[in-house]
Amino acid sequence: AKKVLLFGDIGIDDTVALIYAHFNDEIDIVGVVADYGNVSREDAMSNIRYLFNLFNFPNNIPVISGAEMPLTAELPTYYPEIHGVHGLGPIVPDDFEFVIENFLEIVNIIKMYKDELIIVNIGRLTSLATLFILYKELMGNVKEFYIMGGAFGVPGNVTPVAEANFHADPVAVKIVLSYANNVTIIPLNATQKAIVTPEMVDYIDHFGKTAIFKSLMNFYTEFYQERDPTLQGSPVHDALTLMAVIHPEMFTFNSRSIEIGQHLEGPARGQSIADIRPGDQFYDNEKNHRIAFDLDYETFFHNFLSVMTGK
Ligand code: BDR
Ligand code: CA
Repeated sequence: AKKVLLFGDIGIDDTVALIYAHFNDEIDIVGVVADYGNVSREDAMSNIRYLFNLFNFPNNIPVISGAEMPLTAELPTYYPEIHGVHGLGPIVPDDFEFVIENFLEIVNIIKMYKDELIIVNIGRLTSLATLFILYKELMGNVKEFYIMGGAFGVPGNVTPVAEANFHADPVAVKIVLSYANNVTIIPLNATQKAIVTPEMVDYIDHFGKTAIFKSLMNFYTEFYQERDPTLQGSPVHDALTLMAVIHPEMFTFNSRSIEIGQHLEGPARGQSIADIRPGDQFYDNEKNHRIAFDLDYETFFHNFLSVMTGK
């Protein structure tokens, strides 16, 4: 199984990613880093504990305390209207006694799984950027990075042009994209197509052992459909990003260099720009990253239902 260290701002689609990982034998979660984002870092940590307990995750998986604010010297903005007050829709997680590992535990994990470790980042990029600031050389041992973020030539979700993970800390994104090798970006281009419909939710709820999944998805879908009544359901951005680790065939990828809008004031903040002009004369850039520009919905649909129900 692929060894995955997950960085997340545990809201609803992050939770769906964790549930998906739990039911998938091809993914072995070797640690979860709790970051601010959808919710505060404290909420992200208590959600992980709650989910680990609810789903009986092996109790040797470290839960690590990540970043609580961006590198931009701003206070974070949370999104209770999308993910609920604590990040789990209507659910208030019980408090469990739990060991929270220090940030530096990540160094041990990287050393332990040398050359085998895959980092999947489904929240803000602050913690990941901090690791490059502190341990640039060590980070060279990470096999691959999968990052949910960005919107390339399609509308953003927090501003007309920017996606939430990239918008919240554009400085961090720039650091990560400058120094990380073997990066796959799963942007809104692909994730907004990963729609889970109420019918799929009912099917999973009926045949799977997914506990709170239905109440989370109902909450999340209500928000999305209020914003866009033409939507058939809601997009599971983060679960899709994790799926990319084991199912690259679901995506249409192209390699491009990426620039991120660094002006914190003004309309281009956090905008992700890749050269997608037709023709190949523009592609010969210094540093390219693999970007998922499209998703094959059929493959996503079948894999998601089958993993979530075990059928
Ligand atoms: C991304 O932002 C977060 O709020 C979601 O969990 C997802 O990772 C979508 O833009
Ligand atoms: Ca997330």
